[in-house]
Amino acid sequence: MTTAKTTTAETAVEQAEFDRLIESDSRVEPRDWMPEAYRKTLIRQISQHAHSEIIGMQPEGNWITRAPSLKRKAILMAKVQDEAGHGLYLYSAAQTLGIDRETMFEQLITGAAKYSSIFNYTTPTWADMGSIGWLVDGAAICNQVPLCRASYGPYGRAMTRICKEESFHQRQGFEILLELMRGTPAQRAMAQESVNRWYAPALMMFGPPDDDSPNSKQSMAWNIKRFSNDDLRQRFIDMLVPQAEVLGVTLPDPELKWNEARGHYDFGPLNWDEFYEVLAGRGQANAQRVAKRKKAHDDGAWVREAARAYADARMEERLAS
Ligand code: 3HC
Repeated sequence: MTTAKTTTAETAVEQAEFDRLIESDSRVEPRDWMPEAYRKTLIRQISQHAHSEIIGMQPEGNWITRAPSLKRKAILMAKVQDEAGHGLYLYSAAQTLGIDRETMFEQLITGAAKYSSIFNYTTPTWADMGSIGWLVDGAAICNQVPLCRASYGPYGRAMTRICKEESFHQRQGFEILLELMRGTPAQRAMAQESVNRWYAPALMMFGPPDDDSPNSKQSMAWNIKRFSNDDLRQRFIDMLVPQAEVLGVTLPDPELKWNEARGHYDFGPLNWDEFYEVLAGRGQANAQRVAKRKKAHDDGAWVREAARAYADARMEERLAS
């Protein structure tokens, strides 16, 4: 009885310290006590984010062998490699919360964990490399810069590095589209057609409208998310319009219009049925993406085994000396 009372009292002290860290906008570190729900939502968000980076290598990986020049190939390879690195930082950050990497991989491969809807769209043209950089990485930056201030230390620190690299990704995409838009009529048409396909899915990356977002309120109260899904979407659209003017592309939304009173662009409705279809596994490429990831994981088994054997041998040596 006494023990139970002490435990409750201890938990109250720990909860008060956690609340103080959040209220003072300080960082929670892996050694700190944290509520179970906070730990779980971080594992959910960080692992989904890591999976997105890893699956996100596929739509662009598809173009490495077909990039139109050696320079473009080198840039694209560097970018895809960066995404792998982002996935690894994020898996490491999630591991500090007590989940192991094998479990996260298992969740990805079995479909138990989500990854970003956007990576289930296909990349049939070279201009898609431009659209992914400009729109997808652009949306990612808009969403992820505030995450650099996430209350959980390892996540915020991983995001700082990731955002620096994402900004190079966004610019290389913009530059691909700019070059196409300065090219032949066929190249301009290819760029516009690609922007037409990627624009709405990129806006849906920010997640469902606030009223349909079950996690936002609590994640914002815990200083994990700093802005709501709709606020970030609006911020992104306001950024995109002047950039589209520089490129000379038309954003495919007839309702897009500056609203002087709001100080923002108004925009038309998005097709949320399509979003939920993609989340349910019925997007253009869901099955293909997960199957490819599973094959890569299976093909890499020998590397993991070799690394484990090497680590065991080193440990034995250390214990023997
Ligand atoms: N794709 C897939 N699932 C999505 C989604 C999307 N675009 N948007 C929301 N969801 C899911 C959520 O994960 C949640 O599912 P769950 O409860 O089963 O986990 C559900 O839909 C409801 O959405 P909420 O708004 O309540 O969820 P969140 O509060 O977690 O907000 C988020 C969603 C804005 C994506 C947030 O999790 C987030 O900011 N995550 C970190 C950033 C991230 O993961 N980005 C993915 C893209 S990575 C990338 O772009 C790589 C780059 O190199 C291009």
